[in-house]
Amino acid sequence: MRIILIPLLLLLFATGYSTGHSGEGQALYEHHCARCHGTDGARGMFGAKNLQKSQLPDTAIALQIRNGKRIMPAFKKKLNPDQINELAAYIKTLRKPAI
Ligand code: HEC
Repeated sequence: MRIILIPLLLLLFATGYSTGHSGEGQALYEHHCARCHGTDGARGMFGAKNLQKSQLPDTAIALQIRNGKRIMPAFKKKLNPDQINELAAYIKTLRKPAI
């Protein structure tokens, strides 16, 4: 039984890990960003920009997460570059197509 179970668990872990990437962006966002930007990106607490309407390109998003801007804190000491990329990718999924 054990012999079958171990590879099965490894397989589950491996697939969970490879698909788990976007999930990580979301978890990071909900932990670090949602209190100002809201889970849907539109909350606007403390004057936070509406992320559904943001047009910033990836490089500018990453820069702003690293360094912050006015009320928005800098995250370069809390998040590594991979996590910042995950976040940049995730917040773009919050965008609504312009009508
Ligand atoms: C303390 C509240 C606060 C937190 C926490 C916060 N932000 Fe912000 N965010 C702001 C404010 C305020 C602005 C507007 C800054 C300005 O231009 O004056 C902003 C702007 C932005 C912008 C720029 C949007 C645009 O189009 O100009 C992005 C992108 C962004 N935040 C992403 C994030 C991400 C990702 C996180 C989490 C890692 C985060 N923010 C956490 C308050 C916050």
